[in-house]
Amino acid sequence: MNSSNNVFPESILIDNVMEYMNHGAIVGNLAKEIAKRMGMDEEFCYDMSIAGMMHDIGKVKIRTYIEERFEKVMFVDEARYYRMHPTTGYALLKEQGFSDRILTAVLDHHENYDGSGYPNNLKGEGISVEGRILHICDSFGRNMMNQKVSSWKDLRIDEAMRDMVEEAKDFDMKIFLLFQAYVYSEEFQNFLEELDLRMKDMKDK
Ligand SMILES: [Fe+2]
Ligand SMILES: [Fe+2]
Repeated sequence: MNSSNNVFPESILIDNVMEYMNHGAIVGNLAKEIAKRMGMDEEFCYDMSIAGMMHDIGKVKIRTYIEERFEKVMFVDEARYYRMHPTTGYALLKEQGFSDRILTAVLDHHENYDGSGYPNNLKGEGISVEGRILHICDSFGRNMMNQKVSSWKDLRIDEAMRDMVEEAKDFDMKIFLLFQAYVYSEEFQNFLEELDLRMKDMKDK
């Protein structure tokens, strides 16, 4: 494959595996914590941490798909391919025998509460509760990564929340308020400290 002559947008795909894994780990932890705060049982919380870990796995599959057909692909519509990743991820995880709860969470993680999301334009409580949780945690997790802080304790929480508040129509308000309370709590500060320790451990190895 001639990567110097790219015709598909690299930006939508996973290049940095470490960054992808960190994003998954963060989203998984947030989703588990929010589920716990919603009073969900242990199995539900565990499934949410796996769903968070795996939610963007479809991006890997899309990369393979495009690379296999690279010679023939002259133009790729960035948004169209990006929007395939929940469905691709769902199919991939189904093949691997993941539970229905995890599959549903992955499939619904880009559905917006007002019906403007994808892949199925689901609306309100028509979106699985798993998907509604994951959507919020994913957005915040992405904002965290975008800040590129060298230590998580420097995370600017207000800034990470700002565009989510502006886009609040995308989210289930009850879960969003619970999430907001969590990120301003002492527990979240402990979580950030733990993340810092884990990153340090990984670097030291
Ligand atoms: Fe995603
Ligand atoms: Fe994501």
